[in-house]
Amino acid sequence: MLLRQVYLTLAIAALSEAVPAPIKHVLHEKRDKAALDWVKGNRVESDAVLPVRIGLSQNNLDRGYDYLMEVAHPDSEKYGKYWTAEEVHDAFAPSAEAVDAVRDWLHAAGIDPSRIVHSDNKGWLAFDAYAHEAEGLFKTKFFEHNHMSSESTKIGCDEYHLPQHLRDHVDYVTPGVKLTPVLKKHKKAKRASQLGKVKANAVVASEVHDVLISEKAKGLSPDLQLCGYNMTPTCIKALYKLPDATKANKHNSLGLYEQGDYFAKSDLDLFYKEYAPWVPQGTYPIPALIDGANFSVPAGSALNTGESDIDIDLATALIYPQAITLYQVDDQLYEPEEVATTNLFNTFLDALDGSYCTYSAYGETGDDPKIDPVYPDHRPGGYKGKLQCGIYKPTNVISASYGQAEADLPPNYTKRQCNEFMKLGLQGHSILFASGDYGVASFAGDGGPNGCLGPDHKIFSPQYPSNCPYVTSVGGTMIYPDQTVKDPESVMHVNLGGTASNFSTAGGFSNYFPQPEYQKRAVEKYFKKAKLDYPYYSEFEVNFNTTKGLYNRIGRAYPDVAANGAQFRAYTDGFDYHYYGSSLASPLFASVLNLINEERLAIGKGPVGFVNPVLYENPHVLHDIKNGTNAGCGTYGFAAIEGWDPASGLGTPDYPKMKKLFLDLP
Ligand SMILES: *[C@@H]1O[C@H](CO)[C@@H](O)[C@H](O)[C@H]1NC(C)=O
Ligand SMILES: *[C@@H]1O[C@H](CO)[C@@H](O)[C@H](O)[C@H]1NC(C)=O
Ligand SMILES: *[C@@H]1O[C@H](CO)[C@@H](O)[C@H](O)[C@H]1NC(C)=O
Ligand SMILES: *[C@@H]1O[C@H](CO)[C@@H](O)[C@H](O)[C@H]1NC(C)=O
Ligand SMILES: *[C@@H]1O[C@H](CO)[C@@H](O)[C@H](O)[C@H]1NC(C)=O
Repeated sequence: MLLRQVYLTLAIAALSEAVPAPIKHVLHEKRDKAALDWVKGNRVESDAVLPVRIGLSQNNLDRGYDYLMEVAHPDSEKYGKYWTAEEVHDAFAPSAEAVDAVRDWLHAAGIDPSRIVHSDNKGWLAFDAYAHEAEGLFKTKFFEHNHMSSESTKIGCDEYHLPQHLRDHVDYVTPGVKLTPVLKKHKKAKRASQLGKVKANAVVASEVHDVLISEKAKGLSPDLQLCGYNMTPTCIKALYKLPDATKANKHNSLGLYEQGDYFAKSDLDLFYKEYAPWVPQGTYPIPALIDGANFSVPAGSALNTGESDIDIDLATALIYPQAITLYQVDDQLYEPEEVATTNLFNTFLDALDGSYCTYSAYGETGDDPKIDPVYPDHRPGGYKGKLQCGIYKPTNVISASYGQAEADLPPNYTKRQCNEFMKLGLQGHSILFASGDYGVASFAGDGGPNGCLGPDHKIFSPQYPSNCPYVTSVGGTMIYPDQTVKDPESVMHVNLGGTASNFSTAGGFSNYFPQPEYQKRAVEKYFKKAKLDYPYYSEFEVNFNTTKGLYNRIGRAYPDVAANGAQFRAYTDGFDYHYYGSSLASPLFASVLNLINEERLAIGKGPVGFVNPVLYENPHVLHDIKNGTNAGCGTYGFAAIEGWDPASGLGTPDYPKMKKLFLDLP
C-alpha cells in the first residue's frame, strides 16, 4: 500500500543521470537485532519513490552544560546574561559547512539541489528519491517490512553507509535501520500523573469539632491551628513566610503544564471561595492550548481527575494577582492515553521551540512516532491540524506535575528532550518537575508488580524528567497532624490504602545521566554521612539482569528541593478532598520562584532562570529536612538527613532568605 501511494509522486521527482564521483563510504548505522513484530518482506522496487530525510547533527550539544553554567552559576561573571532564542538556535544548529558538505555530495551524486528541501532550522535535508538512487547514495538495499498483526508496511534496511567525510555531520537517515514508521502507537499500560486523593469528611469549619487542636497550635491564629490536618494556602504562606502577592508584571505569568487531565471552572471557584477568598470568582488561566487541546471541562467530566484543578488552585492562591498560563497539550483522544502511557513533553517542547520539531540529536529527529502523538490525528474527534511548532513563548517559570520511570524511555529520547530543557535554561526559564510519589520505586505495575526493576524487582527505578540535570526536581514534604507550621517538616510518606499505600516522595539516582558538577559536593557529603548499606553500581545503562546493585552511585541525583505535598484541601467535581503528592510541591516551588521573579523584574533585573547551581551553593536559603524516608522496593528507601539527601533534596523554601539571595545576584 505504502509503495503504491508513493508511486504517484514519481512525476515530480526529477531524475538526474550524473555519475557519482568515487567516494569512500563507511558504515553509519547497522541494526543489531531484527525489529520486533516486523517481518522482512520484498526488496523495495527500484523505481518506487522514497521520502528521504537526512538528519544533520546538532553542534555543540556537549558544551551545553558549560554554556548553562555561564549564565546560571552564581560565581560566573555572566550570571543572568541569558541568551536569545536566536543565539541558542545558532549555537546548536548544524554548521553551514556541514549543510554545504552534505548538499555538495548529494548534488555530485545526482540529486539536483532543486529537489532538496532544507528545513528552516537547518536541522535536516529532505528529498524524494527513487529507491535505486537512495540505495546508491547509502550503499544499501531497502526492504518492505510487514507488521505481524496488522496491515502496516514500513520500509527499512539492515545497515547503510555514508561518505567518510560526512559521518560527523549526519545524525541519521530515514528510511534506514529505523523502519519508516506507521502512524500507530505501541501501547503499554503506564500511568504518568502522580496524585493521591482522599475525600475529606467535611469542610474545615465543621471538622474542627472532630480533631484535637494540639497545645502548640492553640497559641496560633485560628486559621493556622489545623494545618496538620488541612493544608491550605494560608498554612503554606505561614510555613514558608510567603508575602501576600501584589505584583503582576505582564511578562511574568506562571506556566503550568497539563496533559490528559482538565480543570473545571466550577472547582476553581469553589476552591477560591473556601480556601483563597482573596482570589475573585471567575479567575481562570490564560489558555496556551497545543495540538487540539481543550481549555477546561465540566466538573463531572471523566477528564477532570484533580491534577489540573489542584495545580491551578495552589499556584493562583499564592501568586494572584499574577496570572497562570496553562500549557494544555494534545487532543482529547491522545490525552487520556498519555496519562496511561509513556509519551510526555515532546509536543509541548515543539510548541515552545519550532526547531525542536525537526532537529536531530542522538538518532532522534523530531517527535518519535512510536512514543509521541502523530498529527493530524485522523480519528473522529482528533486534532486535524498540523503539529504546532514554535507557537508560544515560554513563561519565565514552568511547572509540570507529570513524569514516569526513566527505564520506560529510550536513553536517546530522554537526552534529546533534556537538552531542550538546557536550552530553555540558557534563555532564563526555570523548569520544574514533581519528583514522583513512589519513593525509590515507580508506581505498581511499572517495570514490575512493585514498580521496581530487574528480574527480582529489587532495583530502584529513577524517574524522568527529574533525572535530567537541567531541570529542578521538587520532592514532597509534610507535617504530621499533631504538628504546626512552626515545626520542621518531614519527608512526605503516607499510607492512603490500596495502590497508594507507601505513597512517598520519589528520589534517587539516574541510570542515564551523570551527576552534574553543581551537585557533586552535596551528594558526596550525603554518601559519607548516610553510610548506606544497599549495594550499588557505578555504571550507565546498566544491565538490570546481571547487576547486583540497587542504584547508580554516579547518576544524576534528585530531587533538588522540596515543598509541602500533603493534606492539601481542594475541590474536584464539586467534592472537597485531601490531596497528597509531589504534584503539589512542584507548582508550590514554582510559585515561590515566580514571586521572586516579580521582585527582580520590579528592580530591572531578569528572571532567576535555572536555579540549581545557585541553590546548591547556598543551601541555607532552604529549610533542611532531616526526618523521614522514601520507602519502596521492599526497602525504607533513602532517609532525609542533615544536608542534601535523595528524599528531600536541599529542603523547602525559606522565602525571605531566598528573596534576599536572588535580589542580591546581578
Ligand atoms: C474539545 O474540543 C473539541 C474541538 O474543539 C470539541 O469538539 C469538544 O466538544 C471539546 N470537548 C469538551 C469536553 O469541551
Ligand atoms: C544514541 O545516540 C548516540 C550518539 O548520537 C548514537 O551513537 C547511538 O547509536 C544512539 N543509540 C540509538 C539506540 O539510537
Ligand atoms: C533481561 O532478561 C529478560 C528476560 O529474560 C530479557 O528479555 C532481556 O532482553 C534481558 N535484558 C538484557 C539487557 O540482557
Ligand atoms: C518523623 O517521621 C516519622 C515517620 O517517618 C513520624 O512518625 C514522626 O512523627 C516524625 N517526627 C518528627 C519530629 O517530625
Ligand atoms: C510499605 O513499605 C514497608 C516498608 O518498606 C513494606 O514492609 C510494605 O510491604 C510496603 N507496603 C506496600 C503495600 O508496598
